[in-house]
Amino acid sequence: MAAERFAVGELVFVPDPDDAFVLRKVHSCGKGSGTDARLEVTRVDGKGGVEAVRDALAVVEADPLSVDGAEDMVKFTNLTAAALLHNLRVRYARDQMYSCAGSILISVNPFKQLNIYTEKEMQRCKDADVKELQELPPHVYVIAEGAFRGMLVEQKMQAILISGESGAGKTEAAKACVKYIVARSHAASISDGSASQGNAKFIEKCIISANPLLEAFGNAKTVRNSNSSRFGKWVEIQFDASGFISSSKATSYLLEKSRVVEHAQGERTYHVLYQLCKGCSAEELRELHISDASAFKYLERSAKMQVIGIDDVKQWKETVEAMGDFKLQDQEQLFVRRLLSGLLHLGNLRFDAVQLSSQDDGSCVSPSCATTLKSVAAMLGVGEPGLEQALTIKSVGKFPVVQVPQPPEKAAAARDALAKALYGHLFEWLIARINEEMRSNAAAAAAADSKRKIGLLDIFGFEAFAKNSLEQLLINYANERLQQFFNVYIFRLEEQECRSEGVECPKLEFADNSAVMSLLESKPTGVLSLVNEEVLVPNASDTNLLSKMQQSHRAHSAFKTMPRSQGDGFTILHFAGDVSYEIEGFVDKSRDALPSELTVLVAGSSMPQLPAMFKPSEGEGGTAARGGGARARSGGGG
Ligand SMILES: Nc1ncnc2c1ncn2[C@@H]1O[C@H](COP(=O)(O)OP(=O)(O)O)[C@@H](O)[C@H]1O
Ligand SMILES: [Mg+2]
Repeated sequence: MAAERFAVGELVFVPDPDDAFVLRKVHSCGKGSGTDARLEVTRVDGKGGVEAVRDALAVVEADPLSVDGAEDMVKFTNLTAAALLHNLRVRYARDQMYSCAGSILISVNPFKQLNIYTEKEMQRCKDADVKELQELPPHVYVIAEGAFRGMLVEQKMQAILISGESGAGKTEAAKACVKYIVARSHAASISDGSASQGNAKFIEKCIISANPLLEAFGNAKTVRNSNSSRFGKWVEIQFDASGFISSSKATSYLLEKSRVVEHAQGERTYHVLYQLCKGCSAEELRELHISDASAFKYLERSAKMQVIGIDDVKQWKETVEAMGDFKLQDQEQLFVRRLLSGLLHLGNLRFDAVQLSSQDDGSCVSPSCATTLKSVAAMLGVGEPGLEQALTIKSVGKFPVVQVPQPPEKAAAARDALAKALYGHLFEWLIARINEEMRSNAAAAAAADSKRKIGLLDIFGFEAFAKNSLEQLLINYANERLQQFFNVYIFRLEEQECRSEGVECPKLEFADNSAVMSLLESKPTGVLSLVNEEVLVPNASDTNLLSKMQQSHRAHSAFKTMPRSQGDGFTILHFAGDVSYEIEGFVDKSRDALPSELTVLVAGSSMPQLPAMFKPSEGEGGTAARGGGARARSGGGG
């Protein structure tokens, strides 16, 4: 006869509609393990009487360590989702935001300043011997110290990967890591006192100054986070043999360019655009033809919004200071201001239809926007007629080239495409300038060993909105890759290690995502390959792309066609959940190409930085030939 699943008095986790799982004490338990097994529980404090559990099968034994909250969850004998969540909750209530599972640090955003990022805490990590470091309470500094030692002592390249949903605290964690690493390197340079010190100090300052600059241009207020990074970032810090920082390099991914031209209610576009309008001197504003932020279409929704923790005037000062730290000359700073102002004025251009006898309607800049057109042209250093023509007439074909007038809606789309391209290129230009500064000084430094590197990844977490598009597909693909990395390195290597030591390894259960990965990245018919291919074919369209996906993957276990009632698209069964992607816009976004007229226009700008910014870098062909946005290089954001 079957025995009772739980003993009377045993602690268990019971599913709960509000709290996922709650801790309860078994009051009575029927025999057997079927759904009919009767289970009654009480609250641990004994209050509230006896409750009958509806879904007894979903109840799990409470790991004793999790009940009161333990630092390292790898030590649990029963590491269930319920135990993990309960453990985090108990610790969070005690202001213990960090827990860990082996080498993985788990952080729960406290949304308040905890006094845990102190010099004393840094010193404790720095002074700990190998064993002590392993036993210190979980902290982001412990992770950073581990990476620092791995880099310096074992001379192995280190990577700290930070993942989580928007607002989870990824960027703050990355900043804490950098702060620790800089301080650690600084301490090494003080004790050494060698000639490399000066350079190390300079790079340290640059690394710290890069934050306000990148945040001004790359962060925005969203409904989830008032300082949300709208790009992914990989920062690589290089050290010399003494542990001094010798250089640093940032790479950005997928800046959300669409935010330049539109943002949702309750959100803002990029901080720097408000900073510019509010923080510049009266004279600068006159030069930029700016009167009031709310006069700009791209800002009007949010120009008057007050956001706690954001002071645009003060932050503009910091942005300017940071530009100075990176040695942006006055001329270059003027260029940045003019470009930002130019794209804001650009957003105010309206177009009127022009009826043509022999063809479809064309358009012209509305006469009421004549002054705006002047401002845009002046800011971007281009001629007014050329600007108007590039926005309203498209050249089609090669031999002969036919000039096709564009209707107002197409001219408006070209206007927004130009604004997005200007901003995207400016962002990449800034990152290149930051990297250049940190590299040129590093060149003079003592020979840097390529293995002495610590990389930090801060990217968007998994996304599933009501409407998802190419941006979400690329972000979720990146997260699938990270998940695969975890699977391979944490689980498979653990199994291999046990095997190589002749220890019997229990079968490790994990959600293997290799099926989704092959659905996404196999060649030539994986979803991403199909997207890349579609932009190259002459009759490219979203509809054709969707039908190719359906033909290739109809039978795939991780692929479903979206129900017609929800629109045209497809669903992917990701490791973190199902996400439905609307196909509309996939081809255009993937192509991410600026109409050639506009490329020619900016190439003729009298501001030398502008044509240089738009020049394809070495090895880059046309955007379509590169595979466009699907290469996760410079997509359009979501
Ligand atoms: N360690 C922390 N301590 C205190 N507040 C934090 C911490 N981490 C994040 N926050 C708060 O949460 C907000 C969002 O954090 P952020 O790192 O920008 O999120 P993410 O990069 O994951 O979107 C921060 O602006 C800050 O107010
Ligand atoms: Mg962030």
